Amino acid sequence: MRTLIVYGTKHGATKKVVDMLKEKIAGEVSIVNAKEKTECDIKSFDVVIIGSSIYIGAIRKEVKKFIRSNLEEILSRKIGLFLVSGGSEEIESYYKKNFPEELLKKAKAKGYFGFSYDGEGYNAMERMVLKEIAKKAMVKEKFEKKNMDDFLNSLQINEGTYNEEG
Ligand SMILES: Cc1cc2nc3c(=O)[nH]c(=O)nc-3n(C[C@H](O)[C@H](O)[C@H](O)COP(=O)(O)O)c2cc1C
Repeated sequence: MRTLIVYGTKHGATKKVVDMLKEKIAGEVSIVNAKEKTECDIKSFDVVIIGSSIYIGAIRKEVKKFIRSNLEEILSRKIGLFLVSGGSEEIESYYKKNFPEELLKKAKAKGYFGFSYDGEGYNAMERMVLKEIAKKAMVKEKFEKKNMDDFLNSLQINEGTYNEEG
């Protein structure tokens, strides 16, 4: 079983999520930061997981680009999509707005994995937004491990429940 995880992050939270996922996935896992690599041999993987953080309602542009450039190959694999964002309430609209319809249809799993407001390198505008968020948010960082487990179960690649024959 070979799994490819392609991700986009601005301040590191999504990378933290990817590292958590990797620990739990059965078999071989390759990780690609969409900002650093736009081409890879997608057909050599059984499962393709694509994840991004959300800024002003949008996924990272490098992730959008990766999907656009590789859509046909991605659609031929077992697919999981996930988002890392401040709130889970708008997650359905984020999916709808940011991913091609055929990808959403084909995806076996779609996850919401939490957020962090505790990254590095925020600019002045971002710090202002974060100040507002901090007034409402109870914590600076929260990752949804139960959602990650459910997601990997749906893809049948959870190390905890993986069965080679199943
Ligand atoms: C300037 C700014 C804008 C954001 N916009 C949204 C948003 O529209 N919706 C949302 O749910 N979360 C929003 N967030 C929260 C981020 O998605 C969250 O901090 C996420 O963990 C960032 O992940 P990353 O470090 O991998 O980029 C925003 C955060 C910042 C700093």
